[in-house]
Amino acid sequence: MSFPRCALLWARLPAGRQAGHRAAVCSAHRAHCGPPPAVLGRVPALAASSASGGSKAPNTSLFVPLTVKPQGPSADGDVGAELTRPLDKNEVKKILDKFYKRKEIQKLGADYGLDARLFHQAFISFRNYIMQSHSLDVDIHIVLNDICFSAAHVDDLFPFFLRHAKQIFPVLECKDDLRKISDLRLPPNWYSEARAIRRKIIFHSGPTNSGKTYHAIQKYLSAKSGVYCGPLKLLAHEIFEKSNAAGVPCDLVTGEERVTVEADGKQAAHVACTVEMCSVTTPYEVAVIDEIQMIRDPARGWAWTRALLGLCAEEIHLCGESAAIDLVTELMYTTGEEVEVRNYKRLTPISVLDHALESLDNLRPGDCVVCFSKNDIYSVSRQIEIRGLESAVIYGSLPPGTKLAQAKKFNDPSDPCKILVATDAIGMGLNLSIRRIIFYSLIKPSINEKGEKEIEPITTSQALQIAGRAGRFSSQYKEGEVTTMNREDLGLLKEILNRPVDPIRAAGLHPTAEQIEMFAYHLPDTTLSNLIDIFVDFSQVDGQYFVCNMDDFKFSAELIQHIPLSLRVRYVFCTAPINKKQPFVCSSLLQFARQYSRNEPLTFAWLRRYIKWPLQPPKNIKDLMDLEAVHDVLDLYLWLSYRFMDMFPDTSLVRDLQKELDGVIQDGVHNITKLIKISETRKLLHLESSLAGSQSRLSGTLKSQARRARGTKTAGSKAAEPLGASAGELSLASRLVQQGLLTPDMLKQLEKEWMTQQTEHGQERKGTRRKKKEHNSD
Ligand SMILES: Nc1ncnc2c1ncn2[C@@H]1O[C@H](COP(=O)(O)OP(=O)(O)OP(=O)(O)O)[C@@H](O)[C@H]1O
Ligand SMILES: [Mg+2]
Repeated sequence: MSFPRCALLWARLPAGRQAGHRAAVCSAHRAHCGPPPAVLGRVPALAASSASGGSKAPNTSLFVPLTVKPQGPSADGDVGAELTRPLDKNEVKKILDKFYKRKEIQKLGADYGLDARLFHQAFISFRNYIMQSHSLDVDIHIVLNDICFSAAHVDDLFPFFLRHAKQIFPVLECKDDLRKISDLRLPPNWYSEARAIRRKIIFHSGPTNSGKTYHAIQKYLSAKSGVYCGPLKLLAHEIFEKSNAAGVPCDLVTGEERVTVEADGKQAAHVACTVEMCSVTTPYEVAVIDEIQMIRDPARGWAWTRALLGLCAEEIHLCGESAAIDLVTELMYTTGEEVEVRNYKRLTPISVLDHALESLDNLRPGDCVVCFSKNDIYSVSRQIEIRGLESAVIYGSLPPGTKLAQAKKFNDPSDPCKILVATDAIGMGLNLSIRRIIFYSLIKPSINEKGEKEIEPITTSQALQIAGRAGRFSSQYKEGEVTTMNREDLGLLKEILNRPVDPIRAAGLHPTAEQIEMFAYHLPDTTLSNLIDIFVDFSQVDGQYFVCNMDDFKFSAELIQHIPLSLRVRYVFCTAPINKKQPFVCSSLLQFARQYSRNEPLTFAWLRRYIKWPLQPPKNIKDLMDLEAVHDVLDLYLWLSYRFMDMFPDTSLVRDLQKELDGVIQDGVHNITKLIKISETRKLLHLESSLAGSQSRLSGTLKSQARRARGTKTAGSKAAEPLGASAGELSLASRLVQQGLLTPDMLKQLEKEWMTQQTEHGQERKGTRRKKKEHNSD
């Protein structure tokens, strides 16, 4: 620590010279606190305004204190003690306690941004530092010594306390700079190329299946150059294929894939991309931004905002819900651009039925059962199979190839598969031949704008999107129907669908890597996740914008925090889209980052070993989920390979491997009901073995039930599976289930009966015991 001359001079003043004392405190204070301190007890105007910065008070719970280690023995000895005398630690403790309790000091702390929480934390750290240091800085030592001898006031510790507080909370020193960096007002000004041209904005508005995208794409295809920005890889693929099929050479750019179609590898004039990937510096004649209402998405909305404000195109075609018109018009007002709205009507009729499906027995060809959980998907497809029907299955975590293969199977009129079981992954994108949408449930877990998990009925917008998949103009069904599985849900569905969609009020924003880098420059010892929190808290946005939820980014940042990486690289790793519910994907991010930090390129050979290639076809649902996770890991590799080509060099080999894996998964999903059956049996086996210890009589019941069912003695144990020591008898139940003689429902029923029997027996036994007791006591 520095040794301010003023402090030493002041310390050398003879005790009791009160007039000199105040002047010295002021100069010491100036040296340590920065802004003029004014006289203790008065609010220093300048300090107060600089602390608040004229904005809302920061959320100080985000300020994580840095550790300041107590000083060990110094080679120069204890200079403070030599100049004065060694400190009596008991006295010092009393002084510090008094200092902490002083209202004036607390007030002064608040003027420098130390609210009660920070003041307390800073004090604890300051006290530990003083009490545990072997030798203190000379300036503190002298002041403490003077206070001990009443030659100084306890308040004179404040400059040293504040110096310490700024050390542990460096944010206190640079709040104004941080506010400037995180000022997200006026986002249109971030895109100078777009602001240099006057763009024509056309909003294609209308319900689902009204031809919005179709009309925008017609413009795109007829232009000399164009960019299509879609919400999903599958949609980008669809436009890429349509465009090339129409003789308009078109490239494909998604986070994990780049395809150039020109023979010499030159970029084509048209490109279809996922919205996050669009270039805001390349000039185009026509740009299409699909599903513009996604601008309100709590996590991804920033990508639509960026495309809308930043694309350099003469014409920008927006496709989406009318709920976005007002916001888009307002945003374009700030850029000085007008919006032309074109309204469309649904191309085919759609009706909400007056009756629910009630039972899967009532399924018809062209039906799509929409579930919001994988478990429901499994259970519904299994029940469909039990009814002798075939179903296709589509859910979010399936690889794109598998989704397309399942869609193709369902769409193919000559394929026996006529029922689709899907999550809302079909809500945007795939063109499916659906006649009737059946909502299996209306409850979907979601993340709200504050990043909190909510289990609520789906929104009107979601319900409309999903329902809108029925009776597509291009499909064989020219009329769509919508209903629910359960009668009780039908009223709610109707209510949801009839609610007006709230106009969208704000567009998402996202800090840039540069902004975070500048934050890190000011707060070098702060973790990236904490930097993000502080950034979001400090950021200022105009009313038409909001800062997107960055939970996934923070999750990755925390995961790889301990790995030494430059901030830029760390930032890129954290923007890689990963499914944080997949442990293998998360540990792969960590592993990739670790290899990167060791400067060891992640080669194809290494990756094959890492994922244990070749992988076996899935034998049950768990295997299938594991393969899906491996597919995601390959996606992660590919995503990183476009950002760090030298460290992830084997893009095309990995892509081929991924295609192969997609094939294995496709086969697995093709046989999904078999996998579900095996998994169910396993679950039952597990259930049985856990019941084995406490309910050994169950097996006896099963045995007799089974004997009764078959009229034979099949309870031999030759074919029994090894289920553990106590499960010998129970293996019968397993075999009965496996042989299909006992259905899971029958087993559950038996279990219930057994439990009832147990309870009744128990009550009987209790009753008998009571009677015996009563008898004995008589
Ligand atoms: N005028 C048209 N001629 C031929 N096909 C059309 C026409 N309009 C729409 N289609 C076809 O109808 C289907 C639905 O159209 P489109 O995808 O443009 O609807 P949308 O309004 O964008 O729906 P969503 O809101 O679900 O995205 C597509 O397969 C599209 O190719
Ligand atoms: Mg569309």
